[in-house]
Amino acid sequence: MDIDIIKYTEAGKFEDTRLEKIHNVIFDDSEKASIIIAHEIANLIKVKALQNKKCVLGLATGSSPVDVYEELVRLHKEESLSFKNVITFNLDEYYPMKPENTQSYWHFMHEHLFNHIDILPENINIPSGTIKSDEIHQYCIDYDMKIKEVGGIDFQLLGIGRTGHIGFNEPGSHHNSGTRNITLDHITRVDASSAFLGIEKVPRVAITMGISTIRKAKRIVLLAWGINKAGVVKKAIEGNITSEIPSSYLQNHDNITFVLDEGAAQELTRIKTPWLVKPCEWTDPLTLKASVWLSELKQKSILKLTDSDYNNNGMSNLLIEHGSAYDLNIKMFNNLQHTITGWPGGKPKADDTNRPERKNPSKKRIIIFSPHPDDDVISMGGTFDRLVEQGHEVHIAYQTSGNIAVSDTEAMKFAEVAQVLNGGSVEAQKIIDDIQNKKEFDMDSLEVRTLKSLIRRKESVAATRYLGVPDARVHFLNLPFYETGKIKKGKLGKEDISIMNDLISTIKPHQIYAAGDLADPHGTHKVCLNALFISLKELKKEKYMNDCWVWLYRGAWHEWEIHEIEMAVPMSPDQVKKKRQAIFYHQSQKDGVLFQGDDSREFWMRAEDRNKETAKKYNDLGLADYAALEAFRRYHF
Ligand code: F6R
Repeated sequence: MDIDIIKYTEAGKFEDTRLEKIHNVIFDDSEKASIIIAHEIANLIKVKALQNKKCVLGLATGSSPVDVYEELVRLHKEESLSFKNVITFNLDEYYPMKPENTQSYWHFMHEHLFNHIDILPENINIPSGTIKSDEIHQYCIDYDMKIKEVGGIDFQLLGIGRTGHIGFNEPGSHHNSGTRNITLDHITRVDASSAFLGIEKVPRVAITMGISTIRKAKRIVLLAWGINKAGVVKKAIEGNITSEIPSSYLQNHDNITFVLDEGAAQELTRIKTPWLVKPCEWTDPLTLKASVWLSELKQKSILKLTDSDYNNNGMSNLLIEHGSAYDLNIKMFNNLQHTITGWPGGKPKADDTNRPERKNPSKKRIIIFSPHPDDDVISMGGTFDRLVEQGHEVHIAYQTSGNIAVSDTEAMKFAEVAQVLNGGSVEAQKIIDDIQNKKEFDMDSLEVRTLKSLIRRKESVAATRYLGVPDARVHFLNLPFYETGKIKKGKLGKEDISIMNDLISTIKPHQIYAAGDLADPHGTHKVCLNALFISLKELKKEKYMNDCWVWLYRGAWHEWEIHEIEMAVPMSPDQVKKKRQAIFYHQSQKDGVLFQGDDSREFWMRAEDRNKETAKKYNDLGLADYAALEAFRRYHF
């Protein structure tokens, strides 16, 4: 992999970023960024070793640093990087928490790093989750003292929580705080709830290094990946220093870098509204983005924006390029208008110059990839319905079994029915026993997982039949990376890609739809998308791929921004109801679903609200008033 160190050190220049108070660099790929950071750490370890000195590292857990640790392990195994001179201090641990518990940060650190390198066990420091409560105070003072005694932290790695926390310094933390116990914020507990299989099981308290402890580190690198972090990253970098956003205290550190991917950086002013902070090169996409933004800001439709609206909001040079607001507005209005189509597979015999899809071939072969068995109908149920109705050969490919999201109660119901029907079936009884004897945090037995997969399969088939797809066109790929039986999934491997390649090369599709979710860069949707991207790369040379267009939809949590949408498919009120019905077939995902997040609405409600919201935004911009719109963006490979 080519490592662009220059990009790392130079990309975050301050001339471009006058609102920004923390040095930051943005990468298009979090894996690449992680490798660069791992190399910075490795260099430091080597320099210290040459000087016969210890290298003191402050370490974080969570999803953000996983790839950094993976590269450090690789450097140890393949390039003989030694950790013999390294002393580590971890930021935090849940309280109470036994180290052997798989949710503990002790377990995380050993699984991802310590078990695979030559660090001396006595040099590892992780706050203890088993200390007696009346000893915590002294324990924390000693933790800080120990850091001081070894000469302070040379390099501190941080993640950032959606509350703005660093370590577990939640809102309200004092800038002078030392290591201590702290009550976790509700949002932090929601974010941890999938790892603990339910928010009620997430500890309420943790021990964390303090803000002051962290800020004394000689060098700090904070990692933030994905659009879920974008809002808080902006506040930390551009906002005022406030205890409400504890990471904003880092503005006072003189050797800090925030390392971001494009998702996490997307709310920064220089990215979101660059015309407010610097002269812009006005490409077509940026012009559309600016017009949509201005229209929302002024609460006017696009065609009503005036010269002074543009001039007063940093876009005078855009006006100069286009002559007048009138010409510019018409151009942008037409751009948006051309994204709308009731013919997502292309309109036969029509002029397609300004349509999102080609008219030919008039009957297309289509694959809808759905990461879990329900994203197809949740995210594009209306479009799915139209594609089938308009006579295309629509195949659905469920990439994972989704078995982890079926509750034990749901599985028990089916096992008991099977037991009664089969007159005391031994297999069904085993499943019942396995569920009854399962201890907290135990993995499901293979039989229970199989039943849970089957439940989701049959729900999916009910929905696809309802939308008129023959069973032979419904494919359950069961990608192996997902089948760990645990929340934590494996890595994408050759087998996953060859399953994807087999399907694509058999169907030779003219259109592929896939979930383009970037909200959770380590989540299943992103892995499924990566699997598709790798397949497309491998199959690109095949002749039939020249005719294949790829459209990305967004999953249950986010929608494309209006300026990003390249195809918007309207739904009538009846189609909205039909889509709702299709989602209803996924009964195991209704009423108190396991991985709800902090949005208490059921999936059909989220989907409906989101599609109505998109329609409203189009209407506010001055376009036609539809009941709902599903949105897609084209991916060019
Ligand atoms: C972990 C820690 C936390 C995380 C933060 C982000 O040791 O101290 O501050 O860094 O909650 O977590 P992820 O990386 O999982 O998004």
